[in-house]
Order: sequence, then structure tokens, then C-alpha cells
Amino acid sequence: MNSKFKIDSVWENYKLHITKEYGFIDLSISPFVIKANDTLLKHNCKKAIDLGCGNGRHSLYLNSLGFDVYASDIDCSKIIKNTKKLNLSNLTIREHSFTAIPYDDDFFDVVLCTSTLHHAILSDIKQGINEVYRTLKPKSYFVFDFLSTLDTSYGIGTEIEKNTFIGSRTGEENIPHHYADENELKALLNNFSFANINKSIYSFYDSKNNQYSSRVFDVIAVK
Ligand SMILES: C[S@@+](CC[C@H](N)C(=O)[O-])C[C@H]1O[C@@H](n2cnc3c(N)ncnc32)[C@H](O)[C@@H]1O
Repeated sequence: MNSKFKIDSVWENYKLHITKEYGFIDLSISPFVIKANDTLLKHNCKKAIDLGCGNGRHSLYLNSLGFDVYASDIDCSKIIKNTKKLNLSNLTIREHSFTAIPYDDDFFDVVLCTSTLHHAILSDIKQGINEVYRTLKPKSYFVFDFLSTLDTSYGIGTEIEKNTFIGSRTGEENIPHHYADENELKALLNNFSFANINKSIYSFYDSKNNQYSSRVFDVIAVK
């Protein structure tokens, strides 16, 4: 642990608490990320980028586990606000798109990208995956999830290109969502030497306490 903030507990509900001393944040961590972390630590991964980090929940989680974390998003205001008081070492925040990753070739041991890569049209997703591949070291890990065509929101809204909809998901009405099946994901990852693709269902609640479930693919690909 090289972080200056303290995790009270990461327990079954996958919640990360940061003590009141630094400003209280209560963030839930994806169980997939917790599980993937076993593989990453086993292979001595150190340098990780969290692409589309949002509020920074996974950046903070990886940082607390000793990773050297590069957090990025097209809008970094949330993670900047959440980490302002923490004075963390080994956390670099930089605003950019996943379609243009401003780091050298073979730079990262891990690229993490949760609930983000499908927020684009297919050409941008392909460009993002090329950028991930370029910036990953050989034999390093791309850990991400991707919306499935089996998700209940598939088909809602306006289809702007095949399997890409605007207006399909509550709270994200103006953002494109691309839905993939397993074959498409395999094709997108064809440069990678290996890809473990698992189907998952996650439940979550909106601000009005309505429950939703999300059908996604959880993927660990190796360059
Ligand atoms: C649903 S949030 C997920 C945030 C975080 N990864 C998590 O799991 O909590 C999607 C995030 O992707 C970001 N985003 C959308 N398009 C992006 C792009 N082209 N490049 C980088 N980030 C993007 C959004 O700003 C938003 O913060």
C-alpha cells in the first residue's frame, strides 16, 4: 500500500470507503474488476490506465492496491473533485478520449475500461482498441466490459448505425451506445493474442431506486 488514504473496508458489496479525514466517498467497485485484480497482481502488473474513469472509483481502488494509476476521461471534473483532498501519490489525472491516448507505445501493464468503450460509434471503438493495443506492453492486459445485444435496452431509441443507439439508456440519453455480440467482440480483439470473454448480468439502482439489470461481456484480453 503506497496510498495516503485509508480504505476502511472493501467488503462483499464491493464498496470502497475513504475516511472522513479526507472527505467521505462511498463508491462501489465492479466485482469483475476485483476478480480481474487477482490476475493482474499475479503477473506483477504495476502501471495501469483507467480509461473513462468517471468518478474515479476504479482508479482509487487500483491506487490503494499499489498500482501506479493514470486516470483519464473526456471530462475529469468528477475524479478531480473526488481526489482533491486525498493528496495521492502515484495518481496521474489527464483529460483525453480513449480514441487518442497520449502515452508512448508499450507503456502500460493494464488498460482498464469499465462501462465506457461502448459509448461510441463503431469506428471510434475500433480506434480506441487500436490505441489500447499500441499503449499496452507485450503480454499485458486489457480489462473491460461491453454492452451485449441481449441487454434489455437494446433496440430502444434511435439506431444511428448498426447496433448503435442514441437514447437507449436512462440517464445517458444523449450518448451513443454500441451493443455487441461475442463474435463481434472477438473480431474487434483479433490483434490480441488471447481474450477471455464472459457473459455477466449486473443489477443496479437509479436515483429513484428503480432496479435495472445490465447484460454485458466482461473481457480480459492479452496483447
Ligand atoms: C458510465 S461512466 C463509467 C465511469 C467509470 N469507468 C466507472 O466504471 O465508474 C462512462 C464514462 O466514460 C466517459 N467517456 C465517454 N466517452 C469517452 C471517450 N471517448 N473517451 C474517454 N472517456 C469517455 C464519460 O465521460 C464517463 O465518465
